[in-house]
Amino acid sequence: MNVLLLGSGGREHALANALAKSPLLGTLFAAPGNPGIAQVAKTVALDPCDEAAVVDFCRVMNIGFVVVGPETPLVAGIVDALEAAGVKALGPSRAAAQLEGSKGFAKELCRRCGIPTAAYARFTEAGTAKAYLRAQGTPVVVKTDGLAAGKGVIVAQSVEEAEAAVDQMLGGGFGAAGRSILVEEYLEGEEVSFFVLCDGSRALPFASAQDHKRVGEGDTGPNTGGMGAYSPAPIMDQALTERVMAEIVDPALHGMAEMSAPFKGVLFAGLMITSDGPKLIEFNVRFGDPEAQAILPRLDGDLLALLLACAEGRLSAQAPTFSAQSALTVVLAARGYPGTPQKGTEIRGLEKAEALPGVIVTQAGTRRESSRLIANGGRVLNVTGLGATLTEARERAYAGVDAIDWPAGFWRCDIGWRALKGE
Ligand code: AMP
Ligand code: GLY
Repeated sequence: MNVLLLGSGGREHALANALAKSPLLGTLFAAPGNPGIAQVAKTVALDPCDEAAVVDFCRVMNIGFVVVGPETPLVAGIVDALEAAGVKALGPSRAAAQLEGSKGFAKELCRRCGIPTAAYARFTEAGTAKAYLRAQGTPVVVKTDGLAAGKGVIVAQSVEEAEAAVDQMLGGGFGAAGRSILVEEYLEGEEVSFFVLCDGSRALPFASAQDHKRVGEGDTGPNTGGMGAYSPAPIMDQALTERVMAEIVDPALHGMAEMSAPFKGVLFAGLMITSDGPKLIEFNVRFGDPEAQAILPRLDGDLLALLLACAEGRLSAQAPTFSAQSALTVVLAARGYPGTPQKGTEIRGLEKAEALPGVIVTQAGTRRESSRLIANGGRVLNVTGLGATLTEARERAYAGVDAIDWPAGFWRCDIGWRALKGE
């Protein structure tokens, strides 16, 4: 079977590596891909959001299955367009992708279905938003309703900071994504990224990871798309998994089915494990980035077969199995990220890192210029270490980072710190 993977980040490189191992695979295409993905797939210059072009490509190249990596094409309705053309795809319909596309929609679903989450209110007007947040006190969280690549969330420590976020978002700083905003109660606890495969009727826990969203050491500074991750998340034991399925995932899936928008694909629940139990921070409708880079190398078995079963509504009750190894991923970002990253700098030494035992390098914001590899985005590379313990995974990941010669990059040196305290 020919497969088309949509996307160009580190998550898609990790997906491509796993899909490429499948005995079911004919040719793997990736659109647009990146130089790392090009090592395992044929890359094609196609915009994942150009539905007509994607559908045409599938017809011409006899694509049997499309795996959609990022949220933007899902929220815009790529799966509806593909299915209407008779092409199978992994991911939710446009109606179901609103779970990620509109935080207000997800919060409304939580309210209707009794899903534990932070108290909130939604605003389109700055004066009322500010009056509400002043009444709440700090810390308080201000978010754009729409997609903002992980950057549309401000955890404000002061009223001034929260009010500035309201002005920036409602003032057009995030375009249409900020036309409506949410002001939320601040939740305290440990964060977990929890992934569930949903085939429309069955929901199967897939894996857990912990992500580091803040740009700075010690989880400080502005939010990013994610600066590193590790898997499994030690806090997410069997009992907590069952509780999250019963209190958060199952009610949400039931609620979506009741709205005639059944959810199919990868449901990513961003959780805060509070002293009152697990609460939902947000839903995403795809694998996490960089979580996928830490999770997928641990998967035993055939990812393509599993994702196909998910898309075809025939997931088995058998949970997917993972190696007993731990994985830890460090993101290398270009200076300036999450603001304006410096582009065009040269990266050397990837081969040295890749030759180390238990090290996998995935590429994200890179491009090739003849034989040179050039930084071309905010999050540029991911270095994953695999090891018998999280400590070993961490050592291997950072040995890989040290082998890379990229003076214009930066990374956090404390990925995994919470879990490592306990090892
Ligand atoms: P989101 O894009 O909604 O996942 O938010 C990005 C990050 O902001 C989360 O991963 C949390 O670290 C933080 N965050 C979002 N909402 C809250 C909240 N209500 N309380 C505490 N932290 C939050
Ligand atoms: N790492 C968080 C996300 O993928 O949204």
